[in-house]
Amino acid sequence: MKKIVLTGANGNLGQELRGLLAGLCDELVSTDIAEGVGDLLDNETFVQADLSEMDQVRPLLEGAEMVVHFGAIVDELPFDQMWGPNFMGSYNIWESARQLGVRRVVYASSIHAMGMYPKTTRIDTEMPHRPDTYYGFAKCFTEDLGRMYWEKEGIESVHLRIYSATSKPGNARALGSWLSFDDLRQLVARSIDTPVVGFTVVYGVSNNDRCPVDNSAAAFLGYRPKDNAEIYAEEVFAKEPAADLSDLGQTCHGGPFASAVLGVSPMGQMAIPDKED
Ligand SMILES: NC(=O)c1ccc[n+]([C@@H]2O[C@H](COP(=O)([O-])OP(=O)(O)OC[C@H]3O[C@@H](n4cnc5c(N)ncnc54)[C@H](O)[C@@H]3O)[C@@H](O)[C@H]2O)c1
Repeated sequence: MKKIVLTGANGNLGQELRGLLAGLCDELVSTDIAEGVGDLLDNETFVQADLSEMDQVRPLLEGAEMVVHFGAIVDELPFDQMWGPNFMGSYNIWESARQLGVRRVVYASSIHAMGMYPKTTRIDTEMPHRPDTYYGFAKCFTEDLGRMYWEKEGIESVHLRIYSATSKPGNARALGSWLSFDDLRQLVARSIDTPVVGFTVVYGVSNNDRCPVDNSAAAFLGYRPKDNAEIYAEEVFAKEPAADLSDLGQTCHGGPFASAVLGVSPMGQMAIPDKED
């Protein structure tokens, strides 16, 4: 492949993906609103850009075959602060892709598009959205945007409903929801090298014994996660109190985002080793 664009390249997950993506193309263009990504790889260039601004986004995609779109506000904030990066940003990516003939977008969606489902419901990729926050609602918006651009304009997209991508699971919820960085890389690689994906939704979780989601409709991607959070179960349960069943944050898939007040960050309650959701 000639050119791939990675948005959110300086983020937690963007940094985990740069090496993989550089190996899959002649030219990797990494972009972020941050000033840089550190030392550049041999075939990598960095462009600072704000996803909210079409005139900064469109030139990035010139000559690109695929975009790996991971840039976003990763928190719950008042709606007007989410609007530019998380809503307009997605529109700017897909509309630029349409104008410039980009073949495919691989998008970092989130479990928070489905966060209000009770944990006792095994959710699949066909069920209706139930967002838990404005943050999750932006993921629903972008998934629908991707479906529309596929059905009307033939631009393919894979929407990765990432659950908890961290170095290791930090709480009991993550024993089901953990996505290791190796499995994340495998998921992104399959989203890129599968010849035909159309519009596809897939959950980003590892091969956890307690996995609470059903990816069978996306099995054709060939994503076969290898890591299993269960090896951390003893350590995690040793420090976690019994669940409070009156707290939606503990009984719904979205975790603390499910009990969050709209527009107010629940990040302080996530109790995770590095960063999640
Ligand atoms: N980490 C997880 O467990 C998880 C779970 C679900 C979904 N996701 C999604 O994965 C993606 C990456 O998450 P992350 O954990 O790396 O988060 P992160 O906050 O570390 O990275 C996001 C990056 O986007 C950039 N960004 C923010 N606003 C921007 C703007 N206006 N223009 C350009 N760049 C902008 C930030 O500077 C940052 O580098 C996000 O879309 C997030 O919603 C992550």
